[in-house]
Amino acid sequence: MTAKARVAILISGRGSNMEALVRASQAADYPAQIVGVISNRPDAKGLDFARTQGLPTAVFQLKSYPDKVATDAAIVSQLEAWRAEWVCLAGFMRVLSADFTRRWWGRLINIHPSLLPKYKGLDTHLRALEAGETEHGCTVHHVVPEIDEGPVIAQARVPVLPGDTPDTLANRVLIEEHKLYPEALAMVIRESQSPR
Ligand code: GAR
Repeated sequence: MTAKARVAILISGRGSNMEALVRASQAADYPAQIVGVISNRPDAKGLDFARTQGLPTAVFQLKSYPDKVATDAAIVSQLEAWRAEWVCLAGFMRVLSADFTRRWWGRLINIHPSLLPKYKGLDTHLRALEAGETEHGCTVHHVVPEIDEGPVIAQARVPVLPGDTPDTLANRVLIEEHKLYPEALAMVIRESQSPR
């Protein structure tokens, strides 16, 4: 049997997508194991869950380093110390340097709460409602230096319902995020392991 791929997760806050990935990874037949969780904020709620799972955690704040490149180099050192092979961004709300994205190209993925290429950036649910969309959703994609660009791996769609607010829509999308992210990660790992 192929060894489980070693995956690190970067978060900034609640960490519910990180939790979905951790829980999925606990199944014997899931192709990944989570080797550590990094946050750019020491107060990220998700760190508590990671610690209760016995996972290594680390915090890298921009203000602790001379600049973003130095911060990202420190993150890379930590990822290498954990022998991470893949990196999942899960609500990591800081733009990574081009050097970082190049170092992890093809092995760095993100989840975004919209049907990309629609609604890159922030406030995706509000903007989808204001535009009168009838459907919305989430996207797992490879990360490139340009924000919310990069090849799409998988998407999930939800209907926009009458009376939706940004919060009700966000909650409906989030349920799909928690299914999509573990599925998409498993898919790209299995593809990378299959003989050509
Ligand atoms: C999620 O909805 C995720 O898609 C979004 O932040 C939320 C994080 O929630 N990510 C982005 O907006 C990235 N541009 P979580 O911390 O509970 O996973």
